[in-house]
Amino acid sequence: MEFKKTICCIGAGYVGGPTMAVIALKCPEYKVEVVDIDEAKIAKWNSDRLPIFEPGLEEVIRATRGKNLFFHTNMAQAIKESEVIFVSVNTPTKEHGEGAGMAADLRYWESTARTIREHAEGHKIVVEKSTLPVRTADAMAKILCNFSDCKSFEIVSNPEFLAEGSAIKDLLEPDRVLIGARDTEKGRQAALAIEEIYLHWVPKERILLSSVWSSELSKLVSNALLAQRISSINSITPLCEITGADIREVSRAAGMDSRIGGKFLNASVGFGGSCFKKDILNLVYIARSYGLEEVAAYWEWVVRMNEYQKHRFVKTMIRAMFNTLANKRICLFGFAFKANTSDTRETPALYITQKLLEEDASVVITDPKALENARSDLKGLSGNIEFVEDPYEAAKGSDAIAVITEWELYRDLDYGRIYDTMQKPAFIFDGRNILDHKALHSLGFQVYPLGARPLLHW
Ligand code: NAD
Ligand code: UGA
Repeated sequence: MEFKKTICCIGAGYVGGPTMAVIALKCPEYKVEVVDIDEAKIAKWNSDRLPIFEPGLEEVIRATRGKNLFFHTNMAQAIKESEVIFVSVNTPTKEHGEGAGMAADLRYWESTARTIREHAEGHKIVVEKSTLPVRTADAMAKILCNFSDCKSFEIVSNPEFLAEGSAIKDLLEPDRVLIGARDTEKGRQAALAIEEIYLHWVPKERILLSSVWSSELSKLVSNALLAQRISSINSITPLCEITGADIREVSRAAGMDSRIGGKFLNASVGFGGSCFKKDILNLVYIARSYGLEEVAAYWEWVVRMNEYQKHRFVKTMIRAMFNTLANKRICLFGFAFKANTSDTRETPALYITQKLLEEDASVVITDPKALENARSDLKGLSGNIEFVEDPYEAAKGSDAIAVITEWELYRDLDYGRIYDTMQKPAFIFDGRNILDHKALHSLGFQVYPLGARPLLHW
């Protein structure tokens, strides 16, 4: 088949895979190639067992793969063939060296720039899909063009705002699509070329055009603001527990003010995921590197509050269970960082498991989609850990259940049946406030909601 245009994406991860699959679905006249250095991951994209779980993804892949969507590892070919090259490689926090623990590690990004430079022929539009520090496009431009060999290219920033678990819906119905380009003839043309892709399904009024720097910074700021809301509501939970207020009522009352809005005000055991922490720390690092200490300190507290919340959750468990968890069996309901995903990156469950093991507790982990990742995350940890798919089996013989992930299935379990199989007193720590606490209490459980007084039998 003759395609009107070829585009590619370097990086076949949580963003690259779903994003390109939706573009392929909505732009059947485009050939879409997704490439990665990870051969095993590409093999999974080409199999019936996709490398990630995302509701609706399988259907989109089934409709496009092999027709106009292709996953492979031949980077040179993809770069040569494509007019538009999306770059969606990982940009984790630096682990060592200058800025360790704060700054973005741009090694994958830079290596991609060099690969593009090596294989590009003709004019290319290079699209920053990864989340990057503001002014990264400058560095990319310097790699793509030095005096001896200047490639013809234009760099556009088009950050991705999808959330895991709802990625396909977010891609099909985005609140906005942001395209940052230079205010030059070439820059405007490149922005229009990217806009043309999205116009296949996104209404024009939802497509925002801005400068490259505003676009890069908007992505960091959007994540920082979302995380800030969670830390803000979480910061009130200990106050509720002491005073007898209930965080769900407080959150509802505050969120009904249309200026505040109700979303992202669910108190939790702490936010996780691969991006909130790393993007805020990146913002903090940038601010600090420009000498803006107050700005840096302000945003740093969003992350510190999140650490506090995870720590507090474990402390509550220890206190409630008579100041010792030694030899107690504790069952974690959920290991994924949120519901509807198999992703466990930065999941609060990891920290909590480590702390419980340090207290000499045995930990039983159940999760409908994330057990494989949990196994690999916890490999090498010493202590007694079990992985059990069935939540009823997992809870059997436990002293406590701790709800870590808000999977819908945990709401509807037969807790009477579970109670009967547990040690007594049987505790439930609801780190997501998804359960019916009064009903659990009347079954005999000692119930610890988050941000409300516990319901106890003594
Ligand atoms: P990921 O780790 O799932 O995927 C990145 C992929 O890039 C990996 O498969 C890796 O093998 C590949 N890669 C690394 N270096 C490469 C190279 N030189 N050549 C080819 N492939 C290479 O990461 P992700 O979650 O998809 O995130 C990618 C970017 O998107 C990050 O900057 C992240 O901040 C941003 N982002 C992520 C999400 C999300 O929900 N995960 C949402 C919005 C934005
Ligand atoms: C987040 C943003 O929502 C996306 O817009 C962004 O594109 C993405 O980061 C990214 O850049 O990677 P994601 O991390 O996938 O998406 O999921 P969220 O729904 O934002 O949840 C993040 C964490 O916050 C989860 O652990 C979730 O359980 C927690 N959360 C969320 C709360 O604790 N309370 C809430 O009210 C909402």
